[in-house]
Amino acid sequence: EKNGYDHFMLKEIYEQPDAITDTYRGRMLVDQGIVRMAGVDDNISKFLNARRILIVACGTSWHAGLVAEYIFEDFARIPVEVEYASEFRYRNPVIYRDDVVIAISQSGETADTMAAIKLAKEKGAFVFGVCNVVGSSISRETHAGAYTHAGPEIGVASTKAFTTQITVLSLIALKLAKEKGTISNSDFHLYLRELELIPNKIKEALQSNEHITDVARKYKDASNFLYLGRGFNFPVALEGALKLKEISYIHAEGYPAAEMKHGPIALIDEMMPVVVIATRKGHYEKVISNIQEIKSRKGKIIGIVTKGDKEVRELADYVIEVPETVEAFTPLLTTIPLQLLSYHIALMLDKNVDQPRNLAKSVTVE
Ligand code: F6R
Repeated sequence: EKNGYDHFMLKEIYEQPDAITDTYRGRMLVDQGIVRMAGVDDNISKFLNARRILIVACGTSWHAGLVAEYIFEDFARIPVEVEYASEFRYRNPVIYRDDVVIAISQSGETADTMAAIKLAKEKGAFVFGVCNVVGSSISRETHAGAYTHAGPEIGVASTKAFTTQITVLSLIALKLAKEKGTISNSDFHLYLRELELIPNKIKEALQSNEHITDVARKYKDASNFLYLGRGFNFPVALEGALKLKEISYIHAEGYPAAEMKHGPIALIDEMMPVVVIATRKGHYEKVISNIQEIKSRKGKIIGIVTKGDKEVRELADYVIEVPETVEAFTPLLTTIPLQLLSYHIALMLDKNVDQPRNLAKSVTVE
């Protein structure tokens, strides 16, 4: 059932190229320049007239929501707010009838997300689900939705669910952007073609596995890690830190790179590995100056860089390359080495990768 892999988590990491292909199959017709998704098409006026999009989710699904915020605002120019379902439900939130609420949940059973959906429905909003498990409670409670089609995710640490959630949300954003005319026709086609190339680029990113094992060996005994990213990759920094915490029990924090100087920089010394997402597109020069600040305080730098990068390589202790893509889709690639890094560290520390202590695959209690 693990298909020759030692753990479900590793299997699911390696399944991502196929999972993403399954997510967009039949929905994205690249040659015709069409994105079709029944749940969106049937409710297109609700999406096009949305005052805002509110995204509710927990954990890794919340991180996918944050990536989607950047993508929706950039492509479709719709204001987006991303909420922890557990906070949203108890905050007496402002919800308008012309808000579209998107609930993201791999399991489709998360209690807080379910409660947030019920609240949004009571207030008259249209609620759209992005779930993986077919027929799950959340998929039934929402007005419409789109499945991620990632296949069963068994490892407690979410991997392929995250990248397929981002894929579904990107498809929706592209469709709305096209309908609204907020991106040019040529950009629309470019993005479709780029999304189609992502599975092969993930395969390429997976080839760094051996090298990532060396990085893991070097830093597995650290007691803290910092993860930094900017723009579309800020949520990836949060997700990388969560993966490490969950399965290796090493304390890790994710931050927007520029926030470092407002506090976390005080933590940096020669004992602190800092994983910096520094792909060529997206605030590259600014991230380089962040890297210099870390280096001058003797922090250890693990750079996640675009293939062929030279500048970061000169400064960093290690670099891990990912193929080039458009900035908006870089999270689908930069996530991969962070998943592998946490996997290998947990394995070297002899932790139970697939079933970390204190965690359950679906959190059906609040
Ligand atoms: C992280 C993880 C959790 C879940 C969270 C939401 O690896 O597994 O943070 O992402 O419990 O679960 P779903 O997506 O099922 O609602």
